[in-house]
Amino acid sequence: MPKSTRVTKSKLPHPDLERVLVTEAAIKSRLKILGREISKAYGDQEITVIAIINGAVFFSADLLRQISSPVRFDCIRVSSYRNSTTPMGPPRLLDTLLLDLENRHVLLIDDILDTGRTLSVVIEEIRKRKPASVKTCVLLDKKVRRDVQIESDFVGFVIPDRFVVGYGLDFAERYRNISCIGVLKPDLQNPPEWA
Ligand code: IMP
Ligand code: MG
Repeated sequence: MPKSTRVTKSKLPHPDLERVLVTEAAIKSRLKILGREISKAYGDQEITVIAIINGAVFFSADLLRQISSPVRFDCIRVSSYRNSTTPMGPPRLLDTLLLDLENRHVLLIDDILDTGRTLSVVIEEIRKRKPASVKTCVLLDKKVRRDVQIESDFVGFVIPDRFVVGYGLDFAERYRNISCIGVLKPDLQNPPEWA
């Protein structure tokens, strides 16, 4: 094995990753900039942040601490991918929002914008509650996979069409605690023992 290959492999933070796409350091510095952008957009206006769990938990927790505007925080659970890397029908809201949204500035946060179905379903639900505004923020954007015409107002990184895990993103609820974002090895994307 050539020396350069050995060095790269030893740096992988998890053996199930094919490669690292976004390092922990890159995430940290991007979040500072995103936090500044969001704080500038809202100023002193209070933001009602809604995070889509479980994926957006890690990202939201770190991002919110980079935002200087006043913030209210709630989460919503949406069903989508389950154990597969392909969608299993339309996303469904699995619980209701507890915060009032009428005349509020809502910022919806998700880990990744892929086909766009999840964000559009949640935005539709939020709009029913007559907020003053609705904006979205995603850590990752797979632009080429869109089924629904939707763009996010704030984006961490645009990434290629690869299945990624880490920093909140999962496969079958695993790998969320990897601190970088990496491409999952293709042969691990649907092991029968995980079904
Ligand atoms: P969308 O509804 O297709 O835009 O997908 C959004 C949801 O799909 C995200 O909240 C993720 O849970 C999941 N997802 C999409 N792509 C990936 C990926 O590469 N890794 C892990 N989860 C993903
Ligand atoms: Mg997921």
